[in-house]
Amino acid sequence: MKTRITELFEIEHPIIQGGMHYVGFAELAAAVSNAGGLGIITGLTQKTPPDLANEIARCREMTDKPFGVNLTFLPSVNPPDYPGYVRAIIDGGVKIVETAGNNPQKWLPELKENGIKVIHKCTTVRHSLKAEAIGCDAVSVDGFECGGHPGEDDIPNMILLPRAAEELKIPFVASGGMADARSLVASLAMGADGMNMGTRFIATKEAPVHDNVKKAILDASEIDTRLVMRPLRNTERVLNNAATERLLEKEKTLGPDIKFEDILDEVAGVYPRIMMDGDMDAGVWSCGMVAGLINDIPTCQELIDRIMREAEEIIRARLEGILTGTSAAAA
Ligand SMILES: Cc1cc2nc3c(=O)[nH]c(=O)nc-3n(C[C@H](O)[C@H](O)[C@H](O)COP(=O)(O)O)c2cc1C
Repeated sequence: MKTRITELFEIEHPIIQGGMHYVGFAELAAAVSNAGGLGIITGLTQKTPPDLANEIARCREMTDKPFGVNLTFLPSVNPPDYPGYVRAIIDGGVKIVETAGNNPQKWLPELKENGIKVIHKCTTVRHSLKAEAIGCDAVSVDGFECGGHPGEDDIPNMILLPRAAEELKIPFVASGGMADARSLVASLAMGADGMNMGTRFIATKEAPVHDNVKKAILDASEIDTRLVMRPLRNTERVLNNAATERLLEKEKTLGPDIKFEDILDEVAGVYPRIMMDGDMDAGVWSCGMVAGLINDIPTCQELIDRIMREAEEIIRARLEGILTGTSAAAA
């Protein structure tokens, strides 16, 4: 498959692994890139810019294919050393950055001067157009289904993707709810140039997280995620667990007066305990509705090969067969 995304990022298949806190380490990014997709290291999971430089170097030892780094810009009282992280990316020779959260405009000149391509993650057409206007090279359009932060507009991908296609000139990938060949073909049909997956890539052999995390995703169905932190306008889709229920109870009891400090136990610093130690009730953690479509733990190579093989079957047998009237058996 050749799309504007495979051309832009010089990758074999139009499949991206989105940045994921405490999941997107060098092992996963390299495995995805080696399988012909685009692997992404999560910048802020590395505690300092020198740690990120080290992670980039580790990834480079594991793959000679292109990979990217995610930079998430969150509102914060003590912001991370963003200039330091940007420097580590540039000095590490990384040529692709996935930005997310706040508008990345401030960082674009430095990134572009250094030949870095920027794909910004957006949950609305409005933000996607803004990303295009400020000079981003591509957008990752993240629908309401997604694991993590779906924004506050709640537009699912069946609407969001065709709307993005109507408005955007730059290439975009479909993100949120993507799991398999059906997701990829549907995304292409709706005008996207590829797809981005988060939750699906956690349930792979190379994802360097505790087995309990992978098991929780396999056990979960599409009705097992919840939206938390909506009253704080920082909505996050997470897997339901004891901490999620406690947090939702606090939201109910405290109402609009709820403050971030009220939910520190459920959200602050919980990722290492969940992802590394496998303590599944330690706090809330991002997970997409797509968990309902995930039933195995393949290698990244097996997953991506399967997606590409089945996508071709869907296009050539099922879709072509529907046009020629021969598809009943192929379906
Ligand atoms: C455990 C987890 C952690 C995530 N952490 C981040 C992050 O730090 N920064 C970011 O931009 N997106 C993050 N995301 C969002 C993913 O990059 C991606 O956009 C999302 O998972 C897509 O939806 P899906 O899970 O339905 O595939 C995270 C998602 C998950 C599941």
